[in-house]
Amino acid sequence: MCGIVAYVGDKEAYPILIKGLKRLEYRGYDSSGVALINDGAINLYKKQGKVAELESFTEGKNIISNIGIGHTRWATHGAPNDENAHPHYSKSKNLAIIHNGIIENYASLKKELIQRGHEFSSDTDTEVLIHLIEDIQYNAKVDLVEAVRIALNEVIGAYAIVIISSEQPDVMIAAKKSSPLVIGIGTDGEYFVASDATPIVEYTKNVVYLDDEQIGVIQKGEKLRLIDIKNQEITPYIQELEVHLEAIEKGGYEHFMLKEIYEQPISIKNSMRGRINVDKGIVSLGGIRDYEQKIINAERIIIVACGTSWHAGLVGEYLFEDLTRIPVEVEYASEFRYRNPIINENDVVIAISQSGETADTLAAIKLAKDKGATIIGICNVVGSTISRETHCGSYTHAGPEIGVASTKAFTAQVTVLSLMALSIAHKKGSISDSKFRLLLAELDAIPSKVKRMLESDEQVTYISELFKDATNFLYLGRGYNFPVALEGALKLKEISYIHAEGYPAAEMKHGPIALIDEEMPIVVIATKHGNYEKVVSNIEEVKARSGKIIAIVTEGDTEVKAIADHVLEIPATEDSLSPLLTSIPLQLLSYHIAVMRGCNVDQPRNLAKSVTVE
Ligand code: AGP
Repeated sequence: MCGIVAYVGDKEAYPILIKGLKRLEYRGYDSSGVALINDGAINLYKKQGKVAELESFTEGKNIISNIGIGHTRWATHGAPNDENAHPHYSKSKNLAIIHNGIIENYASLKKELIQRGHEFSSDTDTEVLIHLIEDIQYNAKVDLVEAVRIALNEVIGAYAIVIISSEQPDVMIAAKKSSPLVIGIGTDGEYFVASDATPIVEYTKNVVYLDDEQIGVIQKGEKLRLIDIKNQEITPYIQELEVHLEAIEKGGYEHFMLKEIYEQPISIKNSMRGRINVDKGIVSLGGIRDYEQKIINAERIIIVACGTSWHAGLVGEYLFEDLTRIPVEVEYASEFRYRNPIINENDVVIAISQSGETADTLAAIKLAKDKGATIIGICNVVGSTISRETHCGSYTHAGPEIGVASTKAFTAQVTVLSLMALSIAHKKGSISDSKFRLLLAELDAIPSKVKRMLESDEQVTYISELFKDATNFLYLGRGYNFPVALEGALKLKEISYIHAEGYPAAEMKHGPIALIDEEMPIVVIATKHGNYEKVVSNIEEVKARSGKIIAIVTEGDTEVKAIADHVLEIPATEDSLSPLLTSIPLQLLSYHIAVMRGCNVDQPRNLAKSVTVE
């Protein structure tokens, strides 16, 4: 997602835009730009990097203006560089646009425009849209509002746009479909437009939230005019903002981490978007297409990562070996890079990193690459260092993850690993077509199951209250859920500062069982899969030593429910996809315990979001 902001009025526009963009950086921060009208021309400045880079870039430039648009980008398609940064000019440079969303049919529109003599300086869909609008304006001989309306009837996709014209220096045209857009009505006829209210709320609390397929015609000093794309006039509904700045950035959630936990139905769906077709039984990962044969023929897959990404990698090991029958090793990048590992040209290395900047993972990649291995990346930040060091890869498209404790990035990584393993297994024929289609359909159903799980967190809040003062936790899981036990323990450790360990459930009797007493909460993932009966036995062993059992069970389970102290239910799903569901209650458990302990959930002590040092 990207952040957009715009202003027209009697104040200087530039400071309002820059301050607003900094407020919106949580929506994306790989490039930013502004366009301002002065002396009958649009001055456009844009730069890769954070908004601070843009500020340095515009020093000494002509930024005097009372009207302008600004944008901070989260690249989904097209590298994060100066050319692809927004705003974008039209062909004549009399128009400029900022856009948050995706124009799905931009390629066909671009082809037609090129045939009509248009030239493009970027790879973006946004530049195509502003060229289309101007093309309509001149060829149909209509005004700008009508040209925008006609164009929006032609595009397919999501948009939140603001357009300015050097020929109308007191007018902005705003429009929205699927992506958010809010218009702030200031004093003395000034107007603000932004992706959310954070850039607006300090200037005015009177806002109009555009609905889908609505166009706002905003003119300094005039009443706001709204039409829909069918040209119907709409009466603006002016609301008074009640929320505070900080809360809006977090979408009304108390912390970014909670917001990101609740974003998972969308982020998991986005990590699959455009990559599966359940009806046709297709998985299509364009980013690795040229290397799929390499993976199919791989003698070994080595997964390198750190922290939570390493836990996702461990799920990846179970997925790839179970489904593709290719041997897999999972390595802590920090260990792999120094232990003089044996790497050969038939190895495929999968590097997993949310930030794409983790120093140890980057070093491990370079080591493997130097020894001739094929490197595949699974990153969340487009254009990140790691993504640029790999031969190929798939972005997770989870959107910016601001909370230091990784949540939606983890489930997005596991989703992409599931897609990769399914795609390779299907092509290798190492799973039957019926199993492939079953797993594909179940994967497609995961977002709605996660959404249903998130409808209530009362039970997990109740359990959190009971155990918030514990000094130690044990997390146990088997098979696909052993990595989830590790991940659940890490989540608790890093934000609540309670010591916690994850173990394979069967391993408990080889030592950790000595720790168990009536003070020790034990989280056991006991879903109806694989060695379910053996997990039940492990629970009995814990009960015999007065341990307190918090069990993650499949909906409708009665056997574990009869012996556990507390249960958290997840919808039924396939074993290989269960980490996408069992990890959710563990995220919430760690979150609520940390909040109850008064910890800084989004920025835990001693931690950083991206460990770019060794
Ligand atoms: C997880 O909650 C932590 N924030 C940390 O372990 C993180 O997963 C690790 O530092 C790896 O980061 P990366 O995915 O950006 O490479």
